[in-house]
Parts: sequence; structure tokens; C-alpha cells
Amino acid sequence: MLNIALPKGRLGEKVYAMFAGAGFECPALLENSRKLIFDNEAAGVRYFWVKPSDVAIYVERGAADIGVAGKDILLEYRPDVYELLDLNVGKCRMAVAAPEGFRDDMNRTLRVATKFSRIARDYYSAMGRDIDIIHLNGSIEIAPILGLSDVIVDIVETGTTLRENHLEVIETIVPISARLVANKAGFKFKTEPIERLVQEIRKEVEQI
Ligand code: PRP
Repeated sequence: MLNIALPKGRLGEKVYAMFAGAGFECPALLENSRKLIFDNEAAGVRYFWVKPSDVAIYVERGAADIGVAGKDILLEYRPDVYELLDLNVGKCRMAVAAPEGFRDDMNRTLRVATKFSRIARDYYSAMGRDIDIIHLNGSIEIAPILGLSDVIVDIVETGTTLRENHLEVIETIVPISARLVANKAGFKFKTEPIERLVQEIRKEVEQI
């Protein structure tokens, strides 16, 4: 049985559709219930819905053999897992955004609000720019509006949140998409079923 951690929400449903298309279906998963664990013995899979930012923790610690996590989470937390496949869904970018017309004053420490402190720190330290990180947990776009920060580092998908808050992208840091990841020890023990699954999912990715 392969234990698979899926990110709860819209992305998870899209990803499940790819798994189902690849022959690893588990129809009960889409029933509108509060259940979080589902299995299909015949297909050899057990799925769990977990918070998207927690998928990598389940996989790193072996509670799940494989899972689907955003590249943003992998870059931020650097879990010790294998990244097997880019699923080419959940596409967005990590970007620096600021109030429209913002000009960076290089003589001052730049105040950066973000949920992704490590990504922000790595990005600015590579440029040698002095920054002060203000770590927030959500609604990051408010920070520069209220003067809490100069810029934000956050995920931009459609750009609507930025636009509606009169912010604009000033730099793209890295493109993001969902990745199939595997527990390292689990991969050793279950190489054959995992590789078979990857092979089938790859066909689904090619059809996107
Ligand atoms: C994410 C991100 C932006 C928004 C970007 O927030 O932090 O706020 O989506 O999407 P858009 O470019 O399509 O508007 P999320 O919904 O994950 O909530 P959060 O406030 O907890 O970060």
C-alpha cells in the first residue's frame, strides 16, 4: 500500500484527478465528508488530505510515502525528501511586490514582510542587500499599505490580490508549481510501486 499525502483544497482536487487518471482512483475521496483518510486496496493506495504546508512534514517523517507539495514550501522548509516530478499544476511565482511607484532607497535597510522568510533572506543576501524580515502568516499585502514594511515577498498567481491592493510586482524570484515528493527510506523499500506510479503520472502531466 502506498501512503499518499495530498494538499487539501482546490489544488489537491486537481492533483487527485491526475492520480485517478493514472489508475490510482479512490472515488470516496471526493464525497463531501469530513473524513481525511481514504483507501483503495485494489489500487494499492491510501490517501490523506492534509494542510498544503504540512505535506512535506508527513513525507519527510515517513507518515506518507509520497505527497504533493508546492515548490514554495520545498524552498522554504528544505525538507529532506526526494523531488520526483514537476506536476505542472498549481503554477504561480514567488515575487517581490511593492506599492505602485515604489523606489528602493539603497541607503536604508529594506523592510520585507513575508511568510517565506528563508526564500526572502536567500534572495536578498545573494544580492548583498540589507533587509529586515517581518515574518507574517497571511494577508501579507496589507503590510506595505499600513507602513509595516516597504515590500512583500509572496506568491502571485493571477495578480488580482496585488492589483486590488494597489501593489505591483517589482521582481520575480522563482516560478512555482506542485511537485511529487517521496520519503527517502520509503522510496528504497517501495521503489517499484513508486516508480510505476511516477511513470503513469508523468503521462498525465504530458496531457496538461
Ligand atoms: C495567496 C498569496 C496571495 C494570493 C495570490 O494567498 O499569499 O495573497 O494567494 O493570488 P492571486 O495573485 O491570484 O491574487 P492565500 O490565498 O494562500 O492566503 P494567505 O493570505 O494565507 O497567504
